[in-house]
Amino acid sequence: MSGPAAIIGPSLLAANLSCLASESARVLDCGADVLHLDVMDGHFVPNLTFGAPVISSLRSTLNKTHPDAIFDVHLMVTHPHQWVDDMAAAGANFFTFHVEVESEQGAGKDHMPLINKIKSKGMKAGMALKPGTPASALYPYLDVLDLVLVMTVEPGFGGQSFMGDMMEKVTDLRRRCRADMNVEVDGGLAADTVQVAAKAGANMIVAGSSVFKSADPAAAISVLRDHVVNLLPAKA
Ligand code: DX5
Ligand code: ZN
Repeated sequence: MSGPAAIIGPSLLAANLSCLASESARVLDCGADVLHLDVMDGHFVPNLTFGAPVISSLRSTLNKTHPDAIFDVHLMVTHPHQWVDDMAAAGANFFTFHVEVESEQGAGKDHMPLINKIKSKGMKAGMALKPGTPASALYPYLDVLDLVLVMTVEPGFGGQSFMGDMMEKVTDLRRRCRADMNVEVDGGLAADTVQVAAKAGANMIVAGSSVFKSADPAAAISVLRDHVVNLLPAKA
């Protein structure tokens, strides 16, 4: 069975946020596979970014030039279930929320209803792990998810250093999940750090600073993709 594709997603957190559409078009024209959109609520993480109205406006503008752009929305928010309808209407393709949040039913309850709701709205469902959360928190959901996201920095800010000790979780999740699962890493990914991530089993690479701050974003994206293609272990 063939494994998952290499997917490179520049994080718009590192873009010039006053011109999101042209920044998005720029990296898509440089070969980005998806756009990674970091939604922060100032509560789950100590920072604020943007929400569905901004994503909807970005979708409308990009529809004129890049109608097939894939929006990989990473919700670092305390109440993700509040935003499923709005994100679907805004044009999100992936809706990824954190396992650490309380479910709608209360602490420690099942996240399956939220996953089902995300899918019923036509989006792909992802779940993310903060650095302090073990991979086992995602085991109950691996059969139904489209994406698992292993944070390689503390969520909240771009430009931090990659945490190599998260790779055990990547290896474990890649081993346990379906062959077509997207295993995503986010935080501090660049030409050097992507190599250990790809060897561990990550196929989906978020890269903010290393793409947007590069003098040659097309080359930066292509180097990231080449490392994933060459180093991702074949899945039996
Ligand atoms: C951090 C965000 C990341 C961030 C990555 O909370 O989830 O997507 O933008 O930025 P870099 O690649 O600069 O570490
Ligand atoms: Zn992110």
